[in-house]
Amino acid sequence: MEVHDAVLTRRARRVLGDKTPMTEAEVDSLIEAMRLSASCFNNQPWRPVFVYGTEPLAQIKTALSKGNEWATKAGLIVVIASRPADDCAMKDGRQYFLFDCGLAIGQLVLRATEMGLIAHPIAGFSPAKAREILGIPEEYTVITFVICGHPGTDDSLLSDNQKLGEKSRPERKPIGENFFIDKWGAPYS
Ligand SMILES: Cc1cc2nc3c(=O)[nH]c(=O)nc-3n(C[C@H](O)[C@H](O)[C@H](O)COP(=O)(O)O)c2cc1C
Repeated sequence: MEVHDAVLTRRARRVLGDKTPMTEAEVDSLIEAMRLSASCFNNQPWRPVFVYGTEPLAQIKTALSKGNEWATKAGLIVVIASRPADDCAMKDGRQYFLFDCGLAIGQLVLRATEMGLIAHPIAGFSPAKAREILGIPEEYTVITFVICGHPGTDDSLLSDNQKLGEKSRPERKPIGENFFIDKWGAPYS
């Protein structure tokens, strides 16, 4: 699959199939996609925990928020943590650890798309529970869970809105509202 096709195909889908477990080869390939990502000074600040063993997976699912019940069918949840000390911190206050993690997660998501998998980042989870279950130290920010698995057909865990969301991509802002050309606020058209 071309990168452009992966960009167009990727969606935050929620209808997971719970029959096929993730294979080690699939997990290896997702790890490689994250690992080769760019980062400030090659600091590689990401600390992802790939949770896919039956018992650990059942445990981490207890940290999901109510609105993310659809994610209980995941065959793999990647829990990504990082801390400011593991990446560039500029004298003027800019910190790059969250940015670099996002970049690496973007690569994971596109590779998953190419492999025909769902890979859906979420913010709806309890960081405190995730920290406790996985043993993540206090100084790390638990940034996101990426919910992964094979696509399914049973949408009974989705709310009506979520079901609608499966059918078409949520609207983007009009392009001139947040893309500028040559000068701040000069709308791209
Ligand atoms: C950081 C982040 C947090 C998100 N949190 C949730 C979430 O908790 N639950 C959920 O169902 N979707 C979540 N999403 C998915 C977004 O709602 C989705 O990406 C957005 O509506 C655009 O849809 P699309 O990705 O299909 O184009 C999240 C996405 C990101 C990047």
